[in-house]
Amino acid sequence: MTLKPMLPDALAGRLSRSGVAAVVTVENPDDAVPIARALLDGGVGAIELTFRTARAAEAIRRIRAEVPDILAGAGTLLTRTHVLAALEAGALFGVAPGCNPATLAAARECGLPFAPGVMTPTDIEIALEHGCRVLKYFPASNLAGPSALETMAAPFAHLGVRFIPLGGINLASLPQWLASPSVLCVGGSWLAPREIIQRQDWATLRRNAELAAEVARARK
Ligand code: 3PG
Repeated sequence: MTLKPMLPDALAGRLSRSGVAAVVTVENPDDAVPIARALLDGGVGAIELTFRTARAAEAIRRIRAEVPDILAGAGTLLTRTHVLAALEAGALFGVAPGCNPATLAAARECGLPFAPGVMTPTDIEIALEHGCRVLKYFPASNLAGPSALETMAAPFAHLGVRFIPLGGINLASLPQWLASPSVLCVGGSWLAPREIIQRQDWATLRRNAELAAEVARARK
C-alpha cells in the first residue's frame, strides 16, 4: 500500500476541477480537434478517447498537439498493447472498464497514470495493490446508485480512494453523482454521442458541455 499513486495528485486535481470527463469514440481523426475544442469551449476540461477504433491513438496525438489545454486521456485500454499505444500517442491518463492485473502492471511499468474499472471491494483491493487511488466505477448506473458507491467506498476512504463513475450517466443523473463525496469527477458519452459526431454538430456538442459544466460548477 506504499506504492507511488498511479494517478498523480495534480492530474486528479484537474479531473476534479473539470468535474466532468467526456467519453468519445472517434472514427475520423479529423473530428478529434473540433470535438476537443467544442468541449473545452463549453467548459469541460477532460476527454477520454476510447480505444474502440483504430483511430483513437491518432485522435489523442492531434488533440495533444492542437488543444493542449484539454486533459486528453485514453479509454477502453484492454491490453498491454493498448497501454503502450496510448502512452506513445501522448495520453495523459488511461482508463479501463475492468481491473485486469496485466493491464495494470503495464500501465505501472510504463508510467501511464491509470484508473482501472471497479465494481466490487475485491476489485478495489486489486487496484490498490497496483498503487491506484483513482478508480473508474463501472457500470455506475446499472449498480445501485451513489449511496451504494459510498457504502463500498467507506473502508477505503482513509487511503484517499476516489471514483469516476461511468456507464449510463447523463445530464439528469449528473448532479446526484457529483454530490457523492467519494466522486472525483463523472464521465460519460452523453456529451458527444455518435450521432452528433457523425453530423459534425459542434454547436450542440458545445451546448452539451456547457450544460454539464454548469452542473459541475454548482457542486463547488
Ligand atoms: C464507457 O466506457 O463506455 C464509459 O463508461 C461511458 O459509458 P456511457 O457510454 O454509458 O456513458
